[in-house]
Amino acid sequence: MSEIDLVTYKVEEGIAWVYFSRPEKRNAMSPGLNRRMMEVLDELEYRDDVSVLVLGGQGSAWSAGMDLKEYFRETEAQGLRGVRKSQRESYGWFRRLRWFQKPTIAMVNGWCFGGGFGPLFACDLAICADEAQFGLSEINWGILPGGGVTKVVVDLLPMRDAMWLTLTGELIDGVQAADMRLVNESVPAAQLEERTRAVARLLLKKNPVALKFAKDAVRRVSTMTYDEAEDYLVRMQEAANFHDKTEGRKEGIRQFIDEKSYKPGLGSYDLGKVKAD
Ligand code: ACO
Repeated sequence: MSEIDLVTYKVEEGIAWVYFSRPEKRNAMSPGLNRRMMEVLDELEYRDDVSVLVLGGQGSAWSAGMDLKEYFRETEAQGLRGVRKSQRESYGWFRRLRWFQKPTIAMVNGWCFGGGFGPLFACDLAICADEAQFGLSEINWGILPGGGVTKVVVDLLPMRDAMWLTLTGELIDGVQAADMRLVNESVPAAQLEERTRAVARLLLKKNPVALKFAKDAVRRVSTMTYDEAEDYLVRMQEAANFHDKTEGRKEGIRQFIDEKSYKPGLGSYDLGKVKAD
């Protein structure tokens, strides 16, 4: 299979639907898939017709984690140079996705193992099928959850849950993952795409500059003191004001106070209206 087919995508009504597309290998992340995913993110990130990115999986898996043959065994056979290269390729796109310009949603349809927690965490929101299965299988084949995965579960979960998944390698289904807050929501598989589309459409109504600064802020402030965060958020809003050429915040106030056409407590201002003078 050519590298280009390992990740597929379509763009429809502002939403980029990107898929791990190696179903016969349960979407295990091989070096080729990792390289292709970086290219796809690059192609999509600044397209004017893309406002939200959804990451799904073809077939029965979201991703069965790193490819044990191609990512581990074959690169290790090339020595340290090969190992470091394949690490850069995978960590590279995970990082690119964490700081992606547009909001991102993981749409987890099936298996999500080990290294798959990297892109799961990289996505801003996560919706899964009740039938999805999540597991840190690293311990089952004799390694620790590396590649940032231990950090992912410690950041997302209480310590007991993080430790449970890490030490037992036991699976949890989508409903349990939602209870644990590993994902935002779990829905029956038949409704997964429809629910994901509805959430994406919610985001399409928001000011895109505010979305980017807000999502980065959520990730950045977690390691800051209160005072650092307060200062950072003031500066970031000022930077957002510079980047938002529509002066959205003024328009948002105008439509509420002057026009009385919406209530910010109940929904978003109309992005489509020409900004006030
Ligand atoms: N790496 C390499 N190949 C894989 C992987 C993987 N992570 N996952 C599946 N495959 C391959 C299988 O070897 C098999 O290949 P083949 O058809 O050439 O024999 C093919 O995908 C289909 O896999 P099956 O095991 O036959 O599929 P099944 O649906 O029965 O099981 C399951 C799915 C549970 C996902 C199983 O494939 C599995 O346990 N995979 C490994 C999961 C894992 O532990 N991933 C690593 C996490 S740790 C990390 O990412 C660092």
